[in-house]
Amino acid sequence: MVNKNPAWTRKDLLGLQELTRDEIELLLKTAESFKEVISREVKKVPTLRGKTVVNLFYEPSTRTRVSFEVAAKRLSADVINIAIESSSVRKGETLIDTGKNIEALKVDIIVMRHNCSGAAVMLAKNLHASIINAGDGWHEHPTQALLDMFTLKEKLGVIEGLKVSIVGDIAHSRVARSNIWGLTKLGAHVTVCAPPMLIPTGIEKTGVSVTSSIDEALKDADAVNVLRMQFERDTENAFPKQLEYFKNFGITAERLKKAKKNILVMHPGPINRGVEVSSDVADGPNSVILEQVTNGIAVRMAALFLVSQANEHILKKNTGVKAKNEKVLVK
Ligand code: CP
Repeated sequence: MVNKNPAWTRKDLLGLQELTRDEIELLLKTAESFKEVISREVKKVPTLRGKTVVNLFYEPSTRTRVSFEVAAKRLSADVINIAIESSSVRKGETLIDTGKNIEALKVDIIVMRHNCSGAAVMLAKNLHASIINAGDGWHEHPTQALLDMFTLKEKLGVIEGLKVSIVGDIAHSRVARSNIWGLTKLGAHVTVCAPPMLIPTGIEKTGVSVTSSIDEALKDADAVNVLRMQFERDTENAFPKQLEYFKNFGITAERLKKAKKNILVMHPGPINRGVEVSSDVADGPNSVILEQVTNGIAVRMAALFLVSQANEHILKKNTGVKAKNEKVLVK
């Protein structure tokens, strides 16, 4: 079997740190074709007919889970959503046992969100099925960063040379990490902005500029990606009070007056209105937040398609080798 996309040979999509610029560009280009598909009257293609995708979410999600489900259905795959609350995970089953049992049910792709950084990598090492990381702890959320980059490219034409500021809880944010890896590989200038307590030590080594001044972050920026304050992860009282945060870092119409007129306001969602962004900005003319959500479908179709195609190639190759060995043993 010939892999029609030799530029993509990975069975999994685990993070953007490990991808090359070419691989990221291939994902974005493939998503462009699928954006055209989801804009048609009949928004469905038979690309993954006969394949099964399982959504395995150990953390809450609205956008990512539904988006993967819609993406898989648009590709004609069968989709199963596992509700962790009513699964055997509650009886103490380990992640790998859960994964192996799902694989034994002849599932081709597992889309997983987990609260532990590295969970997706661990599952990928233990299964033949493809794993797509839908967010692991503070580590990575690759399809979110890809849909962010897709939206930037769609709106502004290029990513190379863009000035993108990421504002908010950088320390706890897998969205920030994936965006930093992806945007810097594609030649954007990234600035991260947060109170000092929410900026991880050594972040500048990834090639980003760092500031705690929101005005500096907004000045000259082509886009601002506003992160959600993750109050549910505040185990050590690391967060400033909400009102204080909004006063010093909130994206408001007043602050945007000092930015580029057409600055794009992005947010991965869910939004804390009046904490990281005011409602008039979130719903205003600079906001592309809901377009990001729509683009998520095309990006996830691309991810499902590429890993499926590469894994089919890998599995067929391995099966061929095994069959040859078995023949030798029979002799
Ligand atoms: N952006 C994002 O991951 O949203 P959900 O948590 O709703 O999936």
